[in-house]
Amino acid sequence: MIELRQLTKRYGTFTAVDRIDLTVGSGELFGFLGPNGAGKTTTLRMIAGILRPTSGSIRIAGVDLLQDPVAAKAKLGFIPDRPFIYEKLTGAEFLRFVAGLYDQAGPEVEHRARELLSLFDLEEWRDELVESYSHGMRQKLIISSAFVHRPAVIVVDEPMVGLDPKAARILKDLFREYTRRGHTIIFSTHTLEVAESLCDRVAIIAQGTIRAAGTMAELRRDLAEGEEGLERIFLRLTGENAARNLVDVLDA
Ligand SMILES: Nc1ncnc2c1ncn2[C@@H]1O[C@H](COP(=O)(O)OP(=O)(O)O)[C@@H](O)[C@H]1O
Ligand SMILES: [Mg+2]
Repeated sequence: MIELRQLTKRYGTFTAVDRIDLTVGSGELFGFLGPNGAGKTTTLRMIAGILRPTSGSIRIAGVDLLQDPVAAKAKLGFIPDRPFIYEKLTGAEFLRFVAGLYDQAGPEVEHRARELLSLFDLEEWRDELVESYSHGMRQKLIISSAFVHRPAVIVVDEPMVGLDPKAARILKDLFREYTRRGHTIIFSTHTLEVAESLCDRVAIIAQGTIRAAGTMAELRRDLAEGEEGLERIFLRLTGENAARNLVDVLDA
């Protein structure tokens, strides 16, 4: 459903994403795991069609995103890390508006919007203006908007940040249920626990390149040195050794 070939993004002379190859299949819940600055947001924005790659190709459900952006984007929902919502719309209006962007309207959209708002405890807020929503409520509305038109592929940048535990739980269940029905979700996270508790498969990214990919069990089996746990593997692959080095220094 998502196919990246030699995907590259340079900002000036700086290479933020460096020749990434990745395939994510139908029904997969895929995690893009890496430290801050690894290139997750850059990659996801390219997949979502809002940032132009320097080189390489992207296919969404078999459609080339660069050659046929309208058809490819019609299959996508995107939840950015810093979302924008029109303040002067109500929650229900916003969901209707997003569905409209995908040429969807009518009773089915209204039904889905109602279900999503109720899932996230927003039903009493559906007719209130977004400007009166808290940060968490806005985020739940944005998440709902990626599901309201039922895209085949959903791309989510750091979905758990800013959610309270209950909303995070609901989101995880929604991700699982949505992929169980054959849709595809790719999301980024810098936390190992989120990736571990949620994903079918992950790719570990650092400094713009993929260091490893597979199921958590495969990563453990293939990459662990000795009794090394996942956290150590992750830190080693991403070169995030600062904390460990400090501990070593303090222990010495
Ligand atoms: N518009 C930009 N111009 C220059 N450098 C950028 C820009 N956006 C991101 N970068 C750099 O690209 C790298 C990857 O950033 P990003 O994709 O946001 O990483 P992540 O989401 O994994 O934290 C970082 O070093 C960041 O500073
Ligand atoms: Mg990011």
